[in-house]
Amino acid sequence: MHTRTRRRSVIRLALAVFSVCLGAAACTPLEAQEAQRAPAAGPVPADLPMSPSAARGAKLYQNWCVGCHGPQGLGDGPATAFLDPLPRNLQAGRFKFRSTPSGELPTEDDLVRTITRGLKGSSMPAFPLLPESERRDLAQYVVHLAQFGRMKVEAQSLLDDGVPMDKIRAEKMGEIRDVLAGRIARAQPVGVPPETDADSASVARGKKIYTELCESCHGATGVGDGPSAYALRDGRDAPIRPRDFTVGVLRGGDTPQDIYRRLRTGLDGTPMPAFDSRGDKDLWDIVHVVMTLRRTGGGEQVR
Ligand code: HEC
Ligand code: HEC
Repeated sequence: MHTRTRRRSVIRLALAVFSVCLGAAACTPLEAQEAQRAPAAGPVPADLPMSPSAARGAKLYQNWCVGCHGPQGLGDGPATAFLDPLPRNLQAGRFKFRSTPSGELPTEDDLVRTITRGLKGSSMPAFPLLPESERRDLAQYVVHLAQFGRMKVEAQSLLDDGVPMDKIRAEKMGEIRDVLAGRIARAQPVGVPPETDADSASVARGKKIYTELCESCHGATGVGDGPSAYALRDGRDAPIRPRDFTVGVLRGGDTPQDIYRRLRTGLDGTPMPAFDSRGDKDLWDIVHVVMTLRRTGGGEQVR
């Protein structure tokens, strides 16, 4: 790293630590901080009441997650300056590892899976030792943060139209909350059908589809060096590289079923698309190619 950049990072870290944890007031949870800031320009957390589970999760979050994901879940904790990929902005409501269709929120089970296993190949740790009930509470708080972020966006567009916040709070907030609740209720997991035979015929069929759909990013040998690979950017406009399959590390889990789910639902907030119109057989054929590339260590061309 360039010295000046490093110095700037250290200063940013110092400032972040300063603003998060110097003085008791700044160490209080999100709700208390927001309440102190009233009258606020937009919605405050009190506009979106928490379930008892999410409220327990909020406390756990302050212990385990705040250093990276930040006091309000904006992905701006003090450790951020040193991390690549960046911790997720949990208020943005975009999640990579879902069983639900592209654009939807993950299910509680999806989030519990992420919290339990962590995201290998990133700094997101695994928390298998926390009791399951605590991991579920944390998942509920993550959903709450995503809903709150969405609520801010909805309220902002009304504010932009000149509707005052008092009126939004009195007349529109209930409506926004209902729409959010409905959206969560509708987000059903995409089923994973039984795996087809992983024989050489399947791999041969899969290779043709891989060449057509995946090679431009993941490259002919699966090391992530396709012609488009170096120009890709993620939802925060940061550079992002396609996964190198030959290293063997997959963040969202490495069973064939995990890979099937990644292909079916895509990784929201990244250029990795959802292949939601391909038939199940095609998708399993591609899964078998990815499994093969992981085993060959990159020595083999797909074509
Ligand atoms: C050491 C830093 C660090 C800590 C501590 C941490 N995370 Fe993360 N987290 C990350 C990073 C980095 C990512 C983004 C990984 C990526 O983009 O692939 C992430 C991503 C996530 C995601 C998004 C998953 C998805 O599908 O997109 C969730 C949810 C999450 N973290 C929850 C938590 C919770 C809950 C805690 C505390 C129990 C926690 N994290 C603690 C670094 C951290
Ligand atoms: C437009 C570029 C692009 C195309 C096309 C593309 N991918 Fe990706 N893919 C990515 C990027 C970028 C990532 C890394 C995302 C990240 O780091 O969060 C990725 C990640 C993955 C992952 C890793 C998931 C994990 O759990 O870590 C798998 C598996 C994958 N892609 C398979 C495929 C397959 C198979 C195809 C073709 C059917 C394909 N991709 C097509 C860009 C692409």
